[in-house]
Amino acid sequence: MRLHLKTLAALNESHDGLILGIGTKQHLNTAAAQLNESLDGAIVRILDQSGFEGKTGQSLTVYQVPGIQAPWLILIGTGNSEELTPAQWVKMIQAAYKAASDLKLNSVVFGLLDSTPPVFNPIEAFTLASRTLRECTYQFNTYKSQPSTTHTPKDLTLVVADKSLLTNFKQALHWTEAVAEGTALCRQLGNLPGNVCTPNYLSEQAQHLAKLSKKVKIKVLGEAQLEKMGAGAFMAVSRGSNEEGRLVLIEYRGVPNQKGISVALIGKGITFDSGGISIKPAAGMDEMKFDMCGAATVMGVMRTLIRAELPINVVGVLACAENMPSGNATRPGDIVTTLSGKTVEILNTDAEGRLVLCDALTYTQQQYHPDIVIDIATLTGACVVALGKVTSGLFSSDDALADELLEAGRLTHDTAWRLPLAADYQELLDSPAADIANIGGPTAGAITAACFLSRFVEGSRWAHLDIAGTAWLSGTKKGATGRPVPLLTEFLKRQIHA
Ligand code: BES
Ligand code: MN
Ligand code: ZN
Repeated sequence: MRLHLKTLAALNESHDGLILGIGTKQHLNTAAAQLNESLDGAIVRILDQSGFEGKTGQSLTVYQVPGIQAPWLILIGTGNSEELTPAQWVKMIQAAYKAASDLKLNSVVFGLLDSTPPVFNPIEAFTLASRTLRECTYQFNTYKSQPSTTHTPKDLTLVVADKSLLTNFKQALHWTEAVAEGTALCRQLGNLPGNVCTPNYLSEQAQHLAKLSKKVKIKVLGEAQLEKMGAGAFMAVSRGSNEEGRLVLIEYRGVPNQKGISVALIGKGITFDSGGISIKPAAGMDEMKFDMCGAATVMGVMRTLIRAELPINVVGVLACAENMPSGNATRPGDIVTTLSGKTVEILNTDAEGRLVLCDALTYTQQQYHPDIVIDIATLTGACVVALGKVTSGLFSSDDALADELLEAGRLTHDTAWRLPLAADYQELLDSPAADIANIGGPTAGAITAACFLSRFVEGSRWAHLDIAGTAWLSGTKKGATGRPVPLLTEFLKRQIHA
């Protein structure tokens, strides 16, 4: 699908379909108003006769309206423009896309992008809308012998009512395409099953990524190296599996003459989480193929950086392992020494994410000395209980960093919510036998997991995103969402302007 930008003149061109936005109280948005005027009130007559109220979620399809070039006219309810929420905005765009897709239209004029949510400026709203449209085209058909018949329009022409914004919108569209590409890669990797998307597969995909740009270099550490250097926590997770664990480092240098790395992104890449010896119940265990969505997010972000050629130095780190039970697996009660030197009593082998991440955190800080470290992980069921599938959990002791991440999430409608990281929770991780236990008891599970990670931060500004709820959808819509690629790419983009 190609996305085009045109002024209101596009309304008079011949296309297969025309989509217009209608608010409540017969509020016509700019494109609808202009057409209504040139057709002597034809749009208002349709509204009068059909009783179309313009509520969000409503749509009306009309065939062959005299005077309109396109055979299909699709009216989408935009509600009360003063109250339109970002969530409604996204749903509206999705509904418009679906209407065009259901009618199998190939060339569509999209004229509803100017009744925007009041919390966004026009460019922010447009960026979200165009990304939403692009994301509508993603389908996971890799393993369907009969690929899905959902139609994708070939050309979508987005109408820019305010001509003075055309240049800004063009730039925004360029960025959108880069973000959408990253999000699509994240979803694709997330959706691949555990028998395909192994730690080795992820390292190969990272190598493919590196081939796209001279700005990227890859390093891959295998189990022999990890064992030798003393990554005992990482190895405790990986040892039970026949798949070899990998620590993948993707160095992106957007500012070659600048020394060092400014941001490190560390993703949890458990390609399947059975729980290990502390095995999980059977129901829903299939969804633990998504337990590498943190690593997939990092891959997606790196892809966006490459495509947008963002001038920033970022290292992406994928902590990839499979968590399996076997005769060689870690036992509950085992004590291991982490790369940092701290010892951990592994009371529950299902709390494995923090174990691969703590060694990845230590390694990354030792090697790169980044200013900012952000880890992204499908870390705890407790976070899903707390925040559901709507917002990601954000933890940081750095208020400024936390605020920047929250703002990036708000702007991209890839929202996060900050949870406390107070020192008082740390004692829940006390172990009688080692420096620290890997679980903190039945309460505050998302917080104690973050507390565990915080023990391995030294010197960098650090934030942790628990994406256990937001990385994928369950049920009939089961599939990876690509979150939080939009949040993180927006955050990085804003680091440059800051
Ligand atoms: N990958 C899971 C977390 C998870 C569970 C994400 C359900 C999404 C949905 C993680 O490795 C895990 O098993 N965490 C345990 C921690 C517990 C043993 C302290 C959990 O949340 O139950
Ligand atoms: Mn687990
Ligand atoms: Zn896990």
